[in-house]
Amino acid sequence: MKLSYAVILSSLLAVGSAFAAKTPPPISDVEFEQAKQIFFERCAGCHGVLRKGATGKPLTPDITLEKGTEYLKVFIAFGSPAGMPAWGASGDLSEAEVDLMARYIQHEPPVPPEYSMADMKASWKVLIPPEQRPTEKMNIFDVEDSFSVTLRDSGEIALIDSDTKKMITIIKTGYAVHISRLSASGRYLYVIGRDARINLIDLWMETPATVAEIKVGMEARSVETSKFEGWEDKYVIAGTYWPPQFVIMDGTTLEPLRIVSTRGMTTDTQEYHPEPRVTAITASYQQPEFMVNVKETGTAGQPAKNITTSNTDHSL
Ligand code: HEC
Repeated sequence: MKLSYAVILSSLLAVGSAFAAKTPPPISDVEFEQAKQIFFERCAGCHGVLRKGATGKPLTPDITLEKGTEYLKVFIAFGSPAGMPAWGASGDLSEAEVDLMARYIQHEPPVPPEYSMADMKASWKVLIPPEQRPTEKMNIFDVEDSFSVTLRDSGEIALIDSDTKKMITIIKTGYAVHISRLSASGRYLYVIGRDARINLIDLWMETPATVAEIKVGMEARSVETSKFEGWEDKYVIAGTYWPPQFVIMDGTTLEPLRIVSTRGMTTDTQEYHPEPRVTAITASYQQPEFMVNVKETGTAGQPAKNITTSNTDHSL
């Protein structure tokens, strides 16, 4: 008796470790492509393009395989009070799509697509061309002294007058806005979402609104405008985590002019890095330059080495 008990136990243990080394559930090529698209559009903003986790938890196969399809389906369908939307219950994803996503996230994340000039141009919209914009400020707000407040999960910003604390307006933007930056002239506000969508907002309009927009990648953190005297409102630059690059655009229309990849050697060990993420970017007041801070290729504790400068004169 004792022996067979031990045999059962060991076979249970074997089943346990077989689960740990589980293979992902089947998914066809067509389904994989569909799920990839849904993930980039709906999930990557919180879970990260490479599913390494951000606001949402990491969703890499080492974790998701353990949880299994049934658990994942319930979580995706009903969400959680800790910030995971209820994709099924809200009707945003069908039952079949919930099932698809539960299977998809148990597979290795695919390398996300590149984002070229053609992609940027396809997403670029000038809603109000510069010549149709006001020639003077048309509202009573002290726009240079107002707040742009991120309304994270609804993909909006609220403009608030700092004297009266009154809400001026709410503007639809990219998802989970990372920063808002004012142009040197104080007229334009540039807002970038983590989904790399940029809104150019004209603060001179009667009710400030988006006059141009563009998507510059999959995951972004920074936008900045030229600040050097004589270069006010001229250029705008945005940096992305994915793809690892930055783009310089026209300051009044957001027309993309030049993309620069940050892939290259690390400053310490001189190793090639395929994904150096662009973080903070600041404009110089002393010269027509932007300082672009690149994460993986820089050296921790040596901020000077972290910085690469790109002369706008030079690169355009
Ligand atoms: C608004 C941000 C947000 C979006 C968008 C989002 N999630 Fe989440 N997700 C979260 C958060 C936050 C958690 C952690 C919740 C918790 O611990 O209760 C989470 C948890 C999960 C979990 C459970 C992970 C675990 O280890 O238990 C799964 C599965 C999941 N998300 C899948 C998805 C999928 C698939 C999508 C796209 C259809 C998606 N999420 C979109 C925020 C988000």
